[in-house]
Amino acid sequence: MTNPFGYSGKRVVVTGGATGVGAALLDLLAELEAEHVTVLDVKPPSAAHDVYLETDLADPAAVDAAIAKIDGPVHALFNNAGVADTMPPRTVIAVNYLALRRLSEGLLDQIPEGGAIVNTASTAGSQWPSHLEALNEVLDLEDWAKTLAWIDTNLTDLDVLPYFFSKELVQVYTMRSSRPCVRRGVRTNSVCPSPIDTPLLADFRATMSDKLIDWNVSETNGRLVTPREVAMVLAFLGADASGYVNGVNLLVDSGFTAAMTTGQVDFSGMA
Ligand SMILES: NC(=O)c1ccc[n+]([C@@H]2O[C@H](COP(=O)([O-])OP(=O)(O)OC[C@H]3O[C@@H](n4cnc5c(N)ncnc54)[C@H](O)[C@@H]3O)[C@@H](O)[C@H]2O)c1
Repeated sequence: MTNPFGYSGKRVVVTGGATGVGAALLDLLAELEAEHVTVLDVKPPSAAHDVYLETDLADPAAVDAAIAKIDGPVHALFNNAGVADTMPPRTVIAVNYLALRRLSEGLLDQIPEGGAIVNTASTAGSQWPSHLEALNEVLDLEDWAKTLAWIDTNLTDLDVLPYFFSKELVQVYTMRSSRPCVRRGVRTNSVCPSPIDTPLLADFRATMSDKLIDWNVSETNGRLVTPREVAMVLAFLGADASGYVNGVNLLVDSGFTAAMTTGQVDFSGMA
C-alpha cells in the first residue's frame, strides 16, 4: 500500500532550498523517497536534489526562464524562498509574493489532479484582516510592475513593514487561489511559522529587534521552531495525507497565536 505521507513517484519543485527550512525540506523529501526534486535558488543547495536552476526570484524574466525549464508533472510545488526587510521593499515583495504567485500560476498546467501548492508564509502575515481592502487591491492588480508601483506609492501610508505586508499577501493569496485551483484538483495551503532557527533569523533580529524576537520566543514555549519542524508540516501539506485540506494558513507557532487570541500573552516584556 502507498504511504499517504510519502513522496514515492512524486516530482517536486522547491524554492529556497539552499539553507534553512528549504534545506531541511530537501533532506525530508529524500527520506520520503521523492522521485525527482528541482530546486530554484540564488545559491546552490548542498542537500539532496536532482536539478538546480539558479534563479533570482526578484527578477520576473528569471522566474519565467525557470518555468520554461521545469519538466512536469509537478506533483508538489513548495514556494518557500523568502527575504527579510534587510532587503529593499521591492525585493521583499517580489521574492516573497510576486515570484510565488508567478511560479504557482506558471506551473499550474503542469500540476496534475491531486497535486498541491504549499507556500511558506509566516505569523508575520497574521494581521491581514486589518489590511484586507488594500491586500485585495494589490492582489487584483496581478501584474508584477503595477504591484511594485503600488508598493512604492502606498505602503508607507499603511504603516506596515514590507516583510509583514508580503506575508499578508501570501496568506490572502493562498485563500483566494485555493478555490479556482481546487476546481482543477490542485490544493493550495500555507504554513505560518513563528521565528525559526535559520540564517534568516539574524535579519529579523536586525530589522524587528532582538527584544521583539526574544519576547515572542519567551511567550511561546521558550525555544525557536526548528527548520525540520517546519519542513515536516510543509511535507504533510504537499502529500496525499492532507488531501481534503485546502485554503488553510496553518500556524506552526506552538500556540502563540492561540494565546494571543485568548488574551493569555504577557505584553509587559514589550513595554
Ligand atoms: N526564519 C524565520 O524566523 C522565519 C519565520 C517565519 C517564516 N519564515 C519564512 O521561511 C521561509 C524560509 O526562510 P528561512 O528561514 O529558511 O531562511 P533562509 O535564509 O535560510 O532561506 C531562504 C532561502 O531563500 C533563498 N533566496 C533568498 N533570496 C532569493 C532570491 N532572490 N531568489 C531565489 N532564492 C532566494 C536563499 O538563498 C535561501 O536558500 C521564508 O519564506 C521566510 O520568510 C522564516
